[in-house]
Amino acid sequence: MNALLYHPKGHPDKLAYGDAPAPVPADDEVLIRVHAVSLNAADYRSMKMGMIPKRRIFGADIAGRIESVGKSVSLFKPGDAVLGDLSNHGFGGLAEYAAAPENALALKPESVSFEDAAATPLAAMTALQAVRDQAGVQPGQRVLIAGSAGGVGTFAVQLAKYFGAEVTGVCSPGNIAQTRSLGADHVIDYTREDFTKSAQR
Ligand SMILES: NC(=O)c1ccc[n+]([C@@H]2O[C@H](COP(=O)([O-])OP(=O)(O)OC[C@H]3O[C@@H](n4cnc5c(N)ncnc54)[C@H](OP(=O)(O)O)[C@@H]3O)[C@@H](O)[C@H]2O)c1
Repeated sequence: MNALLYHPKGHPDKLAYGDAPAPVPADDEVLIRVHAVSLNAADYRSMKMGMIPKRRIFGADIAGRIESVGKSVSLFKPGDAVLGDLSNHGFGGLAEYAAAPENALALKPESVSFEDAAATPLAAMTALQAVRDQAGVQPGQRVLIAGSAGGVGTFAVQLAKYFGAEVTGVCSPGNIAQTRSLGADHVIDYTREDFTKSAQR
């Protein structure tokens, strides 16, 4: 299969197209034909830290279709459209095929494109863990999202609104319209105002 292979130290181009054998899924894994993959900070940070994925293929956030399933897989069948985060499972998304445990994946809704789905898993799960699991945001609470225009922040604004909060986003001037379009009730431009000095809470 075609893949974007990582060449550690000493190589002028750290990522280069190349051939790699398609992965063979274990009993609890599925083989996915990758339709879209997005680059996340996890990719470049792992690269900077000198981490080498097991098959020299980065790419955490993926969306694609199940090609085949291992013996003990019960959640998916061939043909299912899925999305998932492979950062805890050796990466491998920057390739035509990737193998992943079934518990790293979720079914992709028909209404969501493969491209949108591939841009979702890691940043959106981070926002969900923060807004729902850690903060336990409740209707009527006031929530401030510092970095509302970023990968995590764009999801956090939408999730805080979904859980019923009054949301204030903090971003740069060029992103004010975007933060508002995501549903924020108020927007603070961090180049003009330091929200930590505001009397509001
Ligand atoms: N991405 C992930 O999946 C992920 C996963 C786990 C943890 N994290 C952590 O979550 C944090 C955000 O990551 P990210 O990927 O969302 O980063 P990002 O896409 O680079 O977004 C960061 C945002 O912060 C905003 N910002 C910069 N200076 C600011 C300031 N002084 N006040 C308020 N906002 C400011 C920027 O807004 P403007 O663009 O408007 O300047 C930018 O959009 C990081 O600490 C990261 O390590 C991220």
